Amino acid sequence: MPLAPVLEAHGARIPAIGFGTSGLGDVRAEHVAAALKAGYRHIDTARKYGTERVVGEGMRASGVPRQDVFLCTKVSHENLHAADFARSVEASLAALGVDYVDLLLVHWPQKSTPLAETMGALAKAKRQGLTRHIGVANFNIAMMDDAIRLCPEPLVTLQAECHPYVDQRKVIAACRARGLVLTAYCPLARGRLQGDPILAEIAQRTGKTFAQVALRWLVQQEVIAAIPRSSNAARIAQNIGVFDFELSEEDMRRIAGLARPDGRIANPAGRAPVWDA
Ligand SMILES: NC(=O)c1ccc[n+]([C@@H]2O[C@H](COP(=O)([O-])OP(=O)(O)OC[C@H]3O[C@@H](n4cnc5c(N)ncnc54)[C@H](OP(=O)(O)O)[C@@H]3O)[C@@H](O)[C@H]2O)c1
Repeated sequence: MPLAPVLEAHGARIPAIGFGTSGLGDVRAEHVAAALKAGYRHIDTARKYGTERVVGEGMRASGVPRQDVFLCTKVSHENLHAADFARSVEASLAALGVDYVDLLLVHWPQKSTPLAETMGALAKAKRQGLTRHIGVANFNIAMMDDAIRLCPEPLVTLQAECHPYVDQRKVIAACRARGLVLTAYCPLARGRLQGDPILAEIAQRTGKTFAQVALRWLVQQEVIAAIPRSSNAARIAQNIGVFDFELSEEDMRRIAGLARPDGRIANPAGRAPVWDA
């Protein structure tokens, strides 16, 4: 069973394909266990998803040793003051049934809480051994730079929406320049890529699925880890099978050309920052 290659960022070793778990109801412990049995060693959850408990159950059921799994969870925007932040981390660890996570992220920025306070709380969680690494999600580049400046510990990733329908070239370049991994969420545009004629044509020619082509396009950019979700065992296994073929430069360009102005999916009013693209 082949494992995904690992991306390095400020001491973190992040498997380039992870398993997404948003959507309680769709995601069950058996899916998490199936992902680990299929070779995933990176699991993405969040306090907000309500899936931490099933993620913990799935990890234990899989038989894969805890230390072999890169486990990420997140603190929601309502909990970015230091005391709330610490309580949220404790609740996450209890729900997951683990002593530490490998990556702890601020889930969304929140203007009403001083960023320095939140970054202090994030760094403290790392220094207490509650997480091995830290990062942010849904920050624009200027906010990411503020976070890097204000955080006493290095950030290893920006988690952001990234798939062929959204133009994230500036964000990818910014992560590359700062030595961060971009963790691509909604890497399949929540299923919207299905039926895309260009992805379908490349899939047919390479003998892969549209999802494998889209995921390959992400990981072939070398600083991107993608975290697709599926609640279907066959698709879970397929989605990690993206390391035995390569897209030509021409195909990489054609897929990049699919970006469209309305391609972004996660854009909550009042919470989303001004995006870089
Ligand atoms: N930080 C954030 O704010 C944030 C926001 C959104 C998501 N995320 C993270 O990113 C993860 C992934 O994003 P997402 O779950 O929103 O969407 P996604 O992974 O882009 O898409 C999931 C959808 O694609 C379908 N799918 C998966 N593999 C497929 C395949 N091979 N062929 C056809 N359809 C396939 C799934 O259906 P089936 O189940 O039927 O296969 C599901 O409906 C989340 O689960 C979460 O962990 C983070």
